Amino acid sequence: MRLLAHAFGILGIACAAMAVQTTVKPWVLVVGGDTHGYLSPCGCTAPMSGGIRRRATAVEMIRKSGPTILVDTGSLVKDAGRQNELKAETLAQTLARMDAAAIQLTAEDARLGAGTLASITSLAPNRFVTGSVKGVEGVSPFNERGPLLIGAVSPQPTGLAEAVGKAAVSSDDATRSLIAEAAKRKRLPMLMVAGDLAQAKSIAQRFPALRVVTYRSVGDPPSAPVRVGQTILVTPGEHGKKLVRLTLQGEKVGGYAAIDLGPSYGDHADVSRYYTTYLRRVASAKLIERLPRMDSAAFAGTAECGKCHTDALKTWHATAHAGALQTLAKEGHDRDPDCVSCHVVGLDKKGGFRTLADTPQLANVGCESCHGAGADHAASPKGSPMPKVGANACASCHVPDHSPKFNFLTYWEKIKHR
Ligand code: HEC
Ligand code: HEC
Ligand code: HEC
Ligand code: HEC
Repeated sequence: MRLLAHAFGILGIACAAMAVQTTVKPWVLVVGGDTHGYLSPCGCTAPMSGGIRRRATAVEMIRKSGPTILVDTGSLVKDAGRQNELKAETLAQTLARMDAAAIQLTAEDARLGAGTLASITSLAPNRFVTGSVKGVEGVSPFNERGPLLIGAVSPQPTGLAEAVGKAAVSSDDATRSLIAEAAKRKRLPMLMVAGDLAQAKSIAQRFPALRVVTYRSVGDPPSAPVRVGQTILVTPGEHGKKLVRLTLQGEKVGGYAAIDLGPSYGDHADVSRYYTTYLRRVASAKLIERLPRMDSAAFAGTAECGKCHTDALKTWHATAHAGALQTLAKEGHDRDPDCVSCHVVGLDKKGGFRTLADTPQLANVGCESCHGAGADHAASPKGSPMPKVGANACASCHVPDHSPKFNFLTYWEKIKHR
């Protein structure tokens, strides 16, 4: 014991001496979040930003350059439901692997239900925080890391309180206890606000002791952070496409930068494994087979249409539409409801695509993806004429997020069959 104390004594002196000679490396604070279920950048048109595999790579690179604190502003997912449960679990596991110091618990994530909440808090133990409710197992009011004490509040805490079945704590009360505790522990108080800039500003104005405040926003983070007095306000933007970074040197907070998670960040090996497991779980949960479906006229299938419209079928075979499901299969997304709807025929219709084994004639973007269900027409071409279609037939799939370069004239040129 004495020996140990002695050793620590020497170490202490050595550290103090070093601190005098060299400037202490600043802490880097990395803020991510608002993933809202976007575990991958939409694979549709390279290059797109975001995804947990790149995020983990970026954080690992930043960690190599010095002491780093990662926080996540929460809302792992947007809605409840089986696929979102699987997403939330994958994200919790990923954030634990990335050693996140604090993950804000928001109403959106709490609405996944008690079972999923228990599973995400055990996959990422000692990481979920909120001051807006008390007594939720696995969730603390704040977490300490480096120079920071990190708390979180929902400006309207009733949604979160209802979701977890506890009483709501007002955001002012929760913020006040964070600041008091930070003063006691000699830490800088940082607050994650599950609200927009106006709500975050109003808290920052009322509580000038806060040093860093995070908020929610759509679009990308701004090129410069917002300041209210000595408080710096930052947002990771939407859909986990970016990270923002700050440096903490003593009492000084600065060095703001937004990092775009573009393709130059490769996929993190461990997180890629979690992601593959996620896709496997999505497939075995048979989510496609369980989707809600609308009534519709009966579908004939692409091959059936092609029996009479032989030239159209020949043209179709040469287009990208004919391989759309294979494109997903190559990436393991062919059973993923997030993707399949635009890569097959009639996924939202009772008579539409189900599985490759059950409905092979409706795989890929077929004739009836654009022309509509046509079994009646196929049985009686003159008696049931097909309706006219035009540029509007493309709109449901060629949306800006998935096809930013879409232009009817140039795209039609590549698939025309008249
Ligand atoms: C049994 C043969 C046959 C099958 C099967 C068939 N069609 Fe037709 N289709 C025709 C004939 C014949 C016409 C021309 C009808 C007319 O002139 O009134 C036609 C007309 C059309 C037209 C309108 C052409 C125009 O000039 O206005 C479209 C679009 C069309 N078919 C699409 C389809 C699709 C999609 C399928 C599969 C669901 C399909 N057809 C299946 C025979 C067929
Ligand atoms: C059901 C959804 C859906 C509809 C409707 C749809 N597309 Fe597509 N389209 C896709 C998908 C998915 C791909 C990518 C297929 C692949 O590469 O595997 C694609 C790819 C394409 C491509 C190839 C792009 C390239 O760079 O090679 C063209 C061209 C195209 N679509 C044109 C159209 C046009 C024109 C329409 C409307 C008349 C249309 N599409 C309607 C889903 C759709
Ligand atoms: C809203 C409809 C829609 C959804 C949902 C969708 N896609 Fe696509 N996807 C498209 C369209 C449209 C294209 C063709 C884009 C183009 O070339 O302009 C495409 C193309 C692709 C391509 C081909 C890219 C290339 O350049 O060859 C891949 C890969 C792909 N999608 C993967 C996915 C994955 C993975 C998901 C789910 C995470 C998904 N898609 C969800 C509509 C969609
Ligand atoms: C990606 C969407 C898309 C797919 C897939 C597609 N078509 Fe079409 N098709 C169109 C559009 C849009 C038009 C009308 C173009 C125009 O008005 O210039 C058209 C025109 C036609 C016409 C001529 C009728 C007319 O109105 O001029 C026939 C026949 C036809 N398609 C049959 C088929 C058959 C059969 C298949 C499958 C082998 C098929 N199409 C696949 C979008 C599609």
